[in-house]
Amino acid sequence: MDKFRIVGGKQLSGTVAVSGAKNSALPCLAAALLTPETVTLHNVPYVRDLITMRRLLEDLGCTVLVPALRTHQINAGTVDACEAPYELVKTMRASVLVLGPLVARFGEARVSLPGGCAIGQRPIDLHLKALEQMGAKIELQGGVVQARADRLQGADIEFEMVTVGGTENLMMAATLAQGTTRLINAACEPEISDLADLLTKMGAYIEGAGTSTITIEGVNALGGAIHTIIPDRIETGTLIIAAAITRSELIITDCNPQHLTAVLDKLRDAGVVIEEVNETTLRVKGNGQLRAVDLTTEVYPGFPTDMQAQYLTLMTQAEGDAEINETIFENRFMHVSELQRLGANLRVHGHQCHTHGPTLLTGAKLIASDLRASASLVLAGLAAQGETWIDRVYHIDRGYEKIEEKLRSVGAEIERIKG
Ligand code: UD1
Repeated sequence: MDKFRIVGGKQLSGTVAVSGAKNSALPCLAAALLTPETVTLHNVPYVRDLITMRRLLEDLGCTVLVPALRTHQINAGTVDACEAPYELVKTMRASVLVLGPLVARFGEARVSLPGGCAIGQRPIDLHLKALEQMGAKIELQGGVVQARADRLQGADIEFEMVTVGGTENLMMAATLAQGTTRLINAACEPEISDLADLLTKMGAYIEGAGTSTITIEGVNALGGAIHTIIPDRIETGTLIIAAAITRSELIITDCNPQHLTAVLDKLRDAGVVIEEVNETTLRVKGNGQLRAVDLTTEVYPGFPTDMQAQYLTLMTQAEGDAEINETIFENRFMHVSELQRLGANLRVHGHQCHTHGPTLLTGAKLIASDLRASASLVLAGLAAQGETWIDRVYHIDRGYEKIEEKLRSVGAEIERIKG
């Protein structure tokens, strides 16, 4: 298993570009199952989860060409299987995103239940209940969910809680349903709007994506489309914190600051100077005094849970006490015990973590536990004195495109040790 070796305390400077959004590219690849025509996606990040999704589509019988780095051409005209097997679903929960498209187009889908994951239980009950409301018959056998429907019927679906994947699955399913579907209490994340943009290019009728009520008018068939994936807002936020935690100045390009309002507001409150140079570029000056500021994670447009670990790490370098409340996932403080090994002053009580800073971090051997937690350990390593080793970086490879090369290009001392 690969490891990172980081020598902390180096100043960063220069320009770094953000990749396409993993969480947008995943549903967009799944959406290609809705049509026998070719869907071309540009700006697909070169990360492990996308390779897994490509494998899943190929398993189902799709042809996936990669004519240029970060361009995927998916043709689902030759699909001959309707099952997402456990080997893929267990490594990537987003595999469940094929459920809606498969049942909508082929009347049948089988997807292994994802089971628990490091950051919590993460069931898919809301996806299944909503599909049932659209007329699908759902059965569970041997850990595999089977959904069948001659043709899905439009319905009014009110989600009990906001679910990003559930909204995406149902939005895709509804594009080929008979009649009108309304998704109420839908997720509003930019990735939902990006998926809706792609589906609209494919011929779907969707209104309200990006708001809490989405209306989809079903059509008989969808066609091919060409689409460019939006920038990754979580990678953008992680790079901003890389500048802030190393007290450096960085220019971050190819991003969309409008998708990061809550993150930028919070970081500015904490003393990070962030200038919007233009619509796709930020300049971060991290050399001011950092102040401890409380945080509560929320659904979009609130502060994203996927930035909580990185923000918490920054708070170890801020003056004062902060209370970090995690409201989306039940077990998302796995990074805390690793940060404590570097000397961070942190205390967890249930869904809350109290930080006290600033503390001097000193390098140690760490183990990455999940995707965003691993990013936070890299950030801590950049700030720590001496050498930090991070084991199991396959977690970070799931969602960050060559993070070590990007950071090295702006002056960080970080290398991948192949193992
Ligand atoms: C997506 C993101 C993930 C992010 C999360 C929350 C992708 C590929 N992943 O995950 O990076 O952290 O949104 O912003 O886009 N829930 C249920 N039942 C369900 C569905 C969800 O109880 O059927 C619960 C989950 O356990 C969790 C909460 O709802 O506590 C939010 O989950 P959800 O928004 O569905 O997250 P994902 O789509 O899995």
